[in-house]
Amino acid sequence: MPLRSHDWFGRTGKDGFIYRAWMKNQGFPHHLFEGKPVIGICNTFSEFTPCNAHFRELAEAVKRGVWEAGGFPLEFPVMSLGECQIKPTAMLFRNLASMDVEESIRGNSIDGVILLCGCDKTTPSLVMGACSVDLPTIVLSGGPMLAGRYQGRKIGTSDLWRFAEDFKTGKMSQKEFVEAEACMARSQGHCAVMGTASTMAAMVESLGLALPDNATIPASDSRRKVLAHLTGMRAVELAKQNIKPSDILTRQAFENAIMVNAALGGSTNFIIHLMAIAGRIGVDLSLDDFDTLSAKIPLLANLQPSGEHFVEDLFYAGGLPAIIRELRSVLNNDAMTINGYSLGENCAEAQCHDRSVIASIDEPFKPESGVAVLRGNLCPNGAVLKPSAASPELMQHTGRAVVFENIDDYKARIDDPDLDVDPSCVLVLKNVGPRGYPGMPEVGNMQLPAKILAQGVHDMVRISDGRMSGTGFGTVVLHVSPEAAVGGNLAFVQDGDLITLDVENRRLHLHVSDEELAGRLARFKPIDLGYNRGYVNLYIRHVTQAHEGADLDFLRGSSGSVVKRDSH
Ligand code: FES
Ligand code: MG
Repeated sequence: MPLRSHDWFGRTGKDGFIYRAWMKNQGFPHHLFEGKPVIGICNTFSEFTPCNAHFRELAEAVKRGVWEAGGFPLEFPVMSLGECQIKPTAMLFRNLASMDVEESIRGNSIDGVILLCGCDKTTPSLVMGACSVDLPTIVLSGGPMLAGRYQGRKIGTSDLWRFAEDFKTGKMSQKEFVEAEACMARSQGHCAVMGTASTMAAMVESLGLALPDNATIPASDSRRKVLAHLTGMRAVELAKQNIKPSDILTRQAFENAIMVNAALGGSTNFIIHLMAIAGRIGVDLSLDDFDTLSAKIPLLANLQPSGEHFVEDLFYAGGLPAIIRELRSVLNNDAMTINGYSLGENCAEAQCHDRSVIASIDEPFKPESGVAVLRGNLCPNGAVLKPSAASPELMQHTGRAVVFENIDDYKARIDDPDLDVDPSCVLVLKNVGPRGYPGMPEVGNMQLPAKILAQGVHDMVRISDGRMSGTGFGTVVLHVSPEAAVGGNLAFVQDGDLITLDVENRRLHLHVSDEELAGRLARFKPIDLGYNRGYVNLYIRHVTQAHEGADLDFLRGSSGSVVKRDSH
């Protein structure tokens, strides 16, 4: 079968002239256009995405691998989403970036593509886009930062939440804050804890879309560049053999990713992103799969935010292969991966070098892992909670609702000394869902009222239709579906209503009668977000709910890689 790029570079006459001539202005000799697999390097480098700011260097290592294997590497930029920088939230633009990736891959003379992913949304957006084209694809993650060091101890992004509390209660000064921020992000790479970026890197490795150890080698470790080189080499082989994401991303692969994520204590954002990816590749996955499949998996990794260590420690302890090997009795070991070996084969020899970081399946770090999928009149289509990051004493709790209508209302009143709240209350935040914010920001682990923190209380039940940072923790119910902005019952919770959270029985119940709720629904007025044009307007009209992956409805599935018309 001729290479796809042949339809550009192998042409005679005017078209071939056009497709080759301008490329030659970069100094490429003619023989490169004669049948070498063109490997696109999809780069999310941006100085506004600090976690990916080392990607130019990484791309050079990838190119060396592509050259060595006889390919022709061509790098291209796509929209880059910096989690900490972009307003109102990177999640609002995940689907937009995926469209950029999809069309860039399809429209260009690409035989195989390497996705350079790092900061949270850069992984799902690139994988989603690539799945909708289904050309040979391999992922390379940028790697985690080294753990920070502050006043003699290791710190990472999860400490931000603790520091913020200490700052609020006066235990930490602004000067100490500034010192801590410099100590935390001290090297290249994405967040050093098992936050969303590392969760995504582990997701692609356990799905089989990346080479072994992709998830954990620190960004600044020379072995990250070795992996980049090997990824470049492998991409050429994938292009030659036409091995596509749809060959790798089977239902079994998705099940593996869910179970591995549970053992890692990965981010709740994993659910939304994996659902969206499944939707693109056409694998049937439901919210309940996350609960059912993770129910049999204990927490093996002792990593922040569920535990104490950092992703670099996981690498030194044996990396993801050691976790995967530990789970071999439950995983689909035969699932094929991108290097031509099955997941089981890749990890057969993996060793654990530190049981304080990777526990054995017989003596796990914690019995509970993964996500609990809750149902009830407050979330008929589901809501999620991460048991490993929650407080055991709050897992079964009934309390009085303290309601915030939106994020502005929350910010205005949360520290009001007159706020009628005590530690047994349930904080409810509305209108932070996919449509309501818009973009479903990471505000679900809302900070407790100052006067509660001052009592030394650090956790309360919190409920919202938003998300939580993968670095966050607490007894936080997230992703309530349907969201308040589309008239879900969350919209009708009022101050003083009683709410029961019962994690063991997977229940979230609002103690308000159906008749009363119907009456409140009759008075419901949809909020006007005031986005009358542009992408956000399109997004609001087409975004699906959290339990469906919050993709745009018209982006589900694939359009393949064929482009029927030429550019001239
Ligand atoms: Fe980029 Fe955490 S901010 S990974
Ligand atoms: Mg995040």
